[in-house]
Amino acid sequence: MQNVELKAETIRVVGPCDIWSFPLKMKERHPLEYVRQFPHLRCRNNTLGSLLRIRSEATAAIHSFFQDNGYVHIHTPIITSNDCEGAGELFQIEASNKAMESVDKTHFFNVPAFLTVSGQLHLEVMAGAFTHVFTFGPTFRAENSQSRRHLAEFYMVEAELSFTESLQDVMQVMEDLFKTVTNTVLSRCPHDVELFHKYIAPAQKDRLERMLKNKFVTISYNEAVEILKQASQPFSFKPEWGCDLQTEHEKYLVKHCGEVPVFVINYPYDLKPFYMRDNEDGPQHTVAAVDLLVSGIGELCGGSLREERLPFLESRLQRLGLADAYQWYLDLRKFGSVPHGGFGMGFERYLQCILGVDNIKDVIPFPRFSHSCLL
Ligand code: 4AD
Ligand code: MG
Repeated sequence: MQNVELKAETIRVVGPCDIWSFPLKMKERHPLEYVRQFPHLRCRNNTLGSLLRIRSEATAAIHSFFQDNGYVHIHTPIITSNDCEGAGELFQIEASNKAMESVDKTHFFNVPAFLTVSGQLHLEVMAGAFTHVFTFGPTFRAENSQSRRHLAEFYMVEAELSFTESLQDVMQVMEDLFKTVTNTVLSRCPHDVELFHKYIAPAQKDRLERMLKNKFVTISYNEAVEILKQASQPFSFKPEWGCDLQTEHEKYLVKHCGEVPVFVINYPYDLKPFYMRDNEDGPQHTVAAVDLLVSGIGELCGGSLREERLPFLESRLQRLGLADAYQWYLDLRKFGSVPHGGFGMGFERYLQCILGVDNIKDVIPFPRFSHSCLL
């Protein structure tokens, strides 16, 4: 059905296009894998067009959510000398050989420098001055992964809240962010969203409604492991206390909880980065960490309370041999430390989740992943 018929009186060709060699055919719904081969042309296709408009609206909605709730936006640096997550998945940067001729040092910055994996540590600096802060920018991980949910360059929304003593406060912001931004996107671009829910992922509309209508579920890591151990379905990785949850485990847990997003809290101490707050429990020692798991994707957000107590943080950094490098971070605990916490949400995974897009490479204009950096 077509509402309008165009009757042209004159036609002027502004820029000719050879339709025989142009790879996107009019009126044809090409598979997303096919158009992915043409990163310079695919934005002219309906699906990518809708996606990019939704991406733009979601970006604005995220900024509005935080601004409306009193957060200060911080431009955290892209070049940094730290490895926030401690996982070593870093891209090191250097000036080209030619540019280095005039620098007369081994490193351009005198120290090894990297593309940031997270703005969190810089946000923690700012949370000491502004109470509630957020950042939303590109982050980089040298994960050698060809998976449907990993990119080497992705966008992360991160928030940091001072005067927060409970993980629930952080989880409430995650849930409010997800629901508010999604409702805004649904009301601002219903037709673009409909294209995905009609043609790309027909089951997603109901799933998304369930996510928006229900309160997110919370389970502890201990409970998660028990649920997985009792599952009748076989896993490639055997669930065991002390081991990371794999994507297959995360997806199972969401299904088990009725396809409603699930917060898994209190992960083993040894699995998580140095900055997470010690729960001082045992013998199964945990930290106040939270991951938000969603249908079809697995982990959408990761967060925690931060270790604000100087002696705890100092001894953990010393054991890791990082105390010297993180002297400035210890200073934050020395000079007026307050309980605080925060989280990061992968923006591309968020778009995958609301639209039901299977591959993360189809929700970013120019995907970068191992062995591929087109354009
Ligand atoms: O769980 P992650 O590693 O958490 C952090 O970096 C914290 N420092 C954030 C914070 O507390 N401020 O990453 C956060 C989220 C993940 O849950 C996931 O959605 C996304 O970032 N993410 C990726 N998305 C795409 N490609 C990758 N390689 C990703 N790695 C993480
Ligand atoms: Mg994580």
